[in-house]
Amino acid sequence: MQHVILITVMLHLESPIDAKRWCADQRSQGQTLGFVPTMGALHKGHLSLVTRARAQNGICCASIFINPLQFEDHGDFDAYPRDTESDLALLEAQGCDMVFMGSLGEFFPEVSDLAKIDILPAGPHGSGLEEKFRPGHLDGVRTIVERLFRTVGPSSAYFGEKDFQQTLVVSDLAREMGYPNIVVCPTVREDSGLALSSRNVRLSPDEKNLAQQIYPALLAAREAWQSGERSPDRLSAAMTGHLNHDGLIVEYAEVRDPTHWTAQLPQTPLERAQALIAVRIGSVRLIDNLRLDQ
Ligand code: PAJ
Repeated sequence: MQHVILITVMLHLESPIDAKRWCADQRSQGQTLGFVPTMGALHKGHLSLVTRARAQNGICCASIFINPLQFEDHGDFDAYPRDTESDLALLEAQGCDMVFMGSLGEFFPEVSDLAKIDILPAGPHGSGLEEKFRPGHLDGVRTIVERLFRTVGPSSAYFGEKDFQQTLVVSDLAREMGYPNIVVCPTVREDSGLALSSRNVRLSPDEKNLAQQIYPALLAAREAWQSGERSPDRLSAAMTGHLNHDGLIVEYAEVRDPTHWTAQLPQTPLERAQALIAVRIGSVRLIDNLRLDQ
């Protein structure tokens, strides 16, 4: 019996202009493009999106760009992990066909002063929670994702549920642009339940132990929901009860109706609920969330 091994050689393009040309060429040949935007420091969470994009499209492409527009904290931008060599090897092994990078100036070639880039407001789903603690962050996400979509012209784009509010903001953007189809993929976790995040590498062993309290807090909310609790206040309290540790600062531990987003904690009993948590441990900020009613 003959075994055929297919080896994909991934194309690595250094600029969005080259990527735009290549993607347009692929589309003109009738290919469907599945797109995975990332900021690099890739882990199995990112790679799960690539696997899905590859399975559902003729071509799978990814971007690696640490977008300064979405970092309100310069220290976090500077400390953001960078490992391009490993990222390229992981993407290629996952069967990604093309990855592109670029500088801020290359993404906004029409702007001579990069401090004057026109930032797009994140929209209604950008209010509350992340906006309160990272003002401008989701505006910066929407602004770059719009550029990335225009560069690639994807049929579908793949985002992780881990960044729940981001999925709502990019879904609004895609609806306004008329494309792409947004595919939200499940959060990939360590065995401990801790959601994979590029920032996890910055946690010391003790800090990691603290970070591992986030998922049990989300599960406590789900347990309360399953016991019939529908009060947003009490569902939130079920989470904060688990997050009371020295060295762990809770920014929010709240619930929202995922289909009727509100900036503030809802005041009436919920029919659907997403529990969302953001904490700070040392210099690292981590977010996670869990659907309670499914
Ligand atoms: P980044 O944090 O690199 O994440 C890229 C994508 O991977 C996002 O859609 C994110 O939700 C997803 N992801 C991260 N951790 C995951 C996990 N544990 N399981 C499943 N998916 C996970 O999110 C961004 O970059 C940026 O905001 C970006 C969209 C690229 C715009 O700059």
